[in-house]
Amino acid sequence: MKKSIRVFAPATVANVVCGYDVLGFAVNEPGDEVIMRLTDKPGVSLLKITGDEGRLPLDPEKNTVSAIAKQYLEHIGQPDAGIEIELYKKMPIGSGLGSSSASTVAGLYAINALFDNPLSSKDLVPFAMKGEELACGYGHADNVAPALLGGFVLIRSYSPLDIISLPFPADLHAAIVYPEVDVPTKDARQMIRSKVFLKDAVTQWGNVGGLISGLFMSDYGLIGRSMTDILVEPTRSILIPDFDKLRVLAMEAGAIGFGISGSGPSVFALTRDAETAKNITNKLQAHLNKIAINSLAFVSDVNKKGPIILD
Ligand code: HSE
Repeated sequence: MKKSIRVFAPATVANVVCGYDVLGFAVNEPGDEVIMRLTDKPGVSLLKITGDEGRLPLDPEKNTVSAIAKQYLEHIGQPDAGIEIELYKKMPIGSGLGSSSASTVAGLYAINALFDNPLSSKDLVPFAMKGEELACGYGHADNVAPALLGGFVLIRSYSPLDIISLPFPADLHAAIVYPEVDVPTKDARQMIRSKVFLKDAVTQWGNVGGLISGLFMSDYGLIGRSMTDILVEPTRSILIPDFDKLRVLAMEAGAIGFGISGSGPSVFALTRDAETAKNITNKLQAHLNKIAINSLAFVSDVNKKGPIILD
C-alpha cells in the first residue's frame, strides 16, 4: 500500500428556493468522509460503509463513490490502478442536503489528490454529476458544484456546462432542520410538473435574478423577497410536515427567507447571524417535537472551501 488520504466534503442547500437545479450553496456541517488508498491490486474496491444503516449498495459498480472513481481512473488513463475505499456517512440519506453529492465529491476529491490533482475542481463537476445520475436518475449539478467549489454557485447552463461562483454577504448564515421523514430525490423530482405557464416562469426568473442581485449587493431585503418559488415548492411542500407553520415560525424569528433544501424534507432559513439561525432551529425543532416528528438541526455560515483533506 503506497498512499492514503481522508477527505471531508460538505452538505449543500440546492435550489435556494427559486433556483430549481441552477442554484446551491455549501455549508460547513454536516458532510461525509471518504478514506481512499492506492493499492497494488488492480481495480476499485469498496471495503466498508458506515452510518448508512445498510441502505447504500456495497457493489462497487452501483455505489456512487466507487462507480465514479472508476470512471475517473478511465478518464485519466489509469483504468488498472488499484483503489480501496471506505465511506463514512455522517449525514442523513434522502434528507435534501446533498447526501449522495457529499459522498461522491469526497471520493472524487480524494482520488484526484492521490493522483496529484490532474483535474481542477471545476473539471470534476461532470464526474460528480454522473454520480447524481446514478443516485437519483438525473445528473443535476446544484449540489455537486457547490460541494466541490464551496460558496454559492449558479449553473448558468447545463449544455454546455457553465458554472458561476457567486459572491455572498460574509455574515450570511443558514438554519437547517431535517424532519426525519424520508423523501427520496428521485420521487421528489417525479412529482413536479414538467410544463409551466409563461406567466409563472416570468415570476420565477424575476426571483432568480433578484436573489443573485441581492447576493451581489448584500441586500438582505432583496434576497428575502426573492426567496419565493411558485413552480416546485407548492407540490413538494406537501411531503414536509407542517411546512407552512415552519415557515411562519422561521420568519417570526427573524429569517431573511425560508424554503425547502434541495428536494426536501429538510427546510432552511437564511439569516444575518448564527444566533438568529440557532433560535430558528430551536423553534422549528420544538414544533416538530410537538407533532411527534424527530429532527436534526444544523447552523452554518456559507462554506467557502468545499472539500478538505483531513489526513
Ligand atoms: N435540484 C435538485 C432537486 C436538488 O430539487 O431535485 C436535489 O437535492
